[in-house]
Amino acid sequence: MTKAVPLAGLYKMSQAERKQALAEYAGLTEEEIALLEAGLSPEQADMMIENVVGRYALPMGIATNFLVNGREMVVPMVVEEPSIVAGASYAAKLARAGGGFQTSSSAPVMIGQIQVLGLTNLEEAAAKIKAAEAEILHKADHDPVIRKFSGGARAIECRPLPNTPAGPMLVVHLLYDTRDAMGANTVNTAVETIAPMIEDLTGGRVNLRILSNLADHRTARAECRIPVDALTRGQFSGQQVAQAVFEAWAFAAADPYRAATHNKGIMNGIDAVAVATGNDWRALEAGAHAYAARSGRYTSLTTWSLVTDGAGQVTHLQGELEMPMAVGTVGGATRSHPMARLALKILGNPDARTLAEIMVAVGLAQNFAAIRALATEGIQRGHMRLHARQVAMAAGAQGDQIQIIANRMAEEGVIREDRARELLAEMTKDS
Ligand code: MEV
Repeated sequence: MTKAVPLAGLYKMSQAERKQALAEYAGLTEEEIALLEAGLSPEQADMMIENVVGRYALPMGIATNFLVNGREMVVPMVVEEPSIVAGASYAAKLARAGGGFQTSSSAPVMIGQIQVLGLTNLEEAAAKIKAAEAEILHKADHDPVIRKFSGGARAIECRPLPNTPAGPMLVVHLLYDTRDAMGANTVNTAVETIAPMIEDLTGGRVNLRILSNLADHRTARAECRIPVDALTRGQFSGQQVAQAVFEAWAFAAADPYRAATHNKGIMNGIDAVAVATGNDWRALEAGAHAYAARSGRYTSLTTWSLVTDGAGQVTHLQGELEMPMAVGTVGGATRSHPMARLALKILGNPDARTLAEIMVAVGLAQNFAAIRALATEGIQRGHMRLHARQVAMAAGAQGDQIQIIANRMAEEGVIREDRARELLAEMTKDS
């Protein structure tokens, strides 16, 4: 027997009904329900950044149908672009026909970099550092909380760069397991702590000490296998959709111009969960695109392939995504932003690795949703219908006027603010 999908049919409910359903699903308190309205307070905002003059709200939507390692879940997403939440939910629905997403992740090991200049022999300096590795790691292990949770400094690696515009330099990598923290502060403190030791050991001069966003020791992986029958849509057979998605992926695999947009589609989902949970989406973006270029040629982060049976018939479309996923569930905005705490509660208060795995599953779903639509009916129809609502609002429509004007513009195929203003003027004249 198939289990009931949590919060199924959310899209058919009013916002008030959705909140009620979510509150029941996630066991939200009255204060937490009120928080969905109120968001961050002015006082909390003032503690977060400098020169605060206000707060900037974005919509939080809930993506449904996610089955990750056999666990049902709903995913909070914060984003301004229409179709993202609907796309992720639709893709997750198709993926569950093949058992949902299977995920895994590496230990949460971040890289801190130390730049050493003024060395005459890079190899010799690297050997001196390696010989003192245990001592350096001991000094780097400055964080008692991370140590308590069995995290901490793990290894030292040296990367000689003999030919840079500023001459030769040695780059020292400190590998540091930051457990449930994203770990930027921990790693930055650690590299600042060990820098004088590196200078003493090598006789060189340290310049930068900072974490790397190319967190390729901290990766998460998701895969899904969608039966072709589940892919049938309108006039397109499941076989046709599978082939078209495969061809769309091949385009991104071969062409960096397409890969940039393809990967942007992945990040649409990942960033939306990062923002919802108070994580640093710029760090994720930097890591994702650097990872996509790790072979020396920028390419697709996902892989889509056709699975065939013994007779050569395509039975499934298989998708995979593996990428750096430096996210935390403790520290920073994940705790100080009340909406981030709420988002984590909706996700069942995952640890950092589980959150990373959920996010990579969302990225894979988002990529599938985008390339499936692009490779079949195109994205503009669905997208413009939703976009039309924003255009109607920008033209000054309110309440029921928004949907009426959006529908008219979508029917006419003209979705522009000047047309929305005309329709609004007609409506207000008539009333
Ligand atoms: C738009 O935000 C994202 C897409 O361009 C992604 C893609 O082209 O794969 C639709």
